[in-house]
Amino acid sequence: MSFTVAIDGPAASGKGTIARAVAAHFGFAHLDTGLLYRAVGKKVMIRGDSPEIAVQMARELTPDDLMADDLRTAEVAQAASKVASIPQVRSTLVDFQKTFAKQPNGAVLDGRDIGTVICPDADVKLFVVASAEVRAERRFKELSANDTNITLEYVLEDIKTRDARDAGRDVAPMTAADDAVVLNTSKLTIRQAIAAAVAVITDKRVVD
Ligand code: CDP
Repeated sequence: MSFTVAIDGPAASGKGTIARAVAAHFGFAHLDTGLLYRAVGKKVMIRGDSPEIAVQMARELTPDDLMADDLRTAEVAQAASKVASIPQVRSTLVDFQKTFAKQPNGAVLDGRDIGTVICPDADVKLFVVASAEVRAERRFKELSANDTNITLEYVLEDIKTRDARDAGRDVAPMTAADDAVVLNTSKLTIRQAIAAAVAVITDKRVVD
């Protein structure tokens, strides 16, 4: 029977790590929806920065595009956040995400609008938060492994700019669904955050 978990939250809040672990724990398929916007943002960086090109790139997106190994940089994240505010880019990507969510063996999707727009009827909704400083520290550790020039200040600025743009856009702004469980990971280790998410989902599966 299909079972859908929606995990949303601001930049680098830990939702991706939690989503991957939850998928492994329950045997669900996982879609990191940020990769869709990052892949479109990356193409726009190469092909030209206009809304028309962004929409065309979204239409032409293939699953292979999500496998590119250079989608995780802070520059691509900024480009992603800009294309993500274009309504037609978002609407072009809706069907793929909705179809993915209906996997027969369960699915977990993480992003910004999963619990509100993509899967408003999800069985479990989590909204993962942490302070901007904690999130910047975590993301800085990840990014500095591959980029020795990156600074903590730059990462903090990227996170704050994207959060403001993502929460302030007109279409599908980042916000917790009314029925989402808010999980603050500021003071949690990764293991504790995963355990908390697994507990919420297990409760729901037992009750149903
Ligand atoms: O990993 P991080 O939280 O930094 O970002 P991400 O989840 O990979 O998302 C990159 C950008 O894509 C975000 O800043 C959003 O602008 C956009 N996004 C979105 O608008 N809606 C989603 N469902 C997922 C990502």
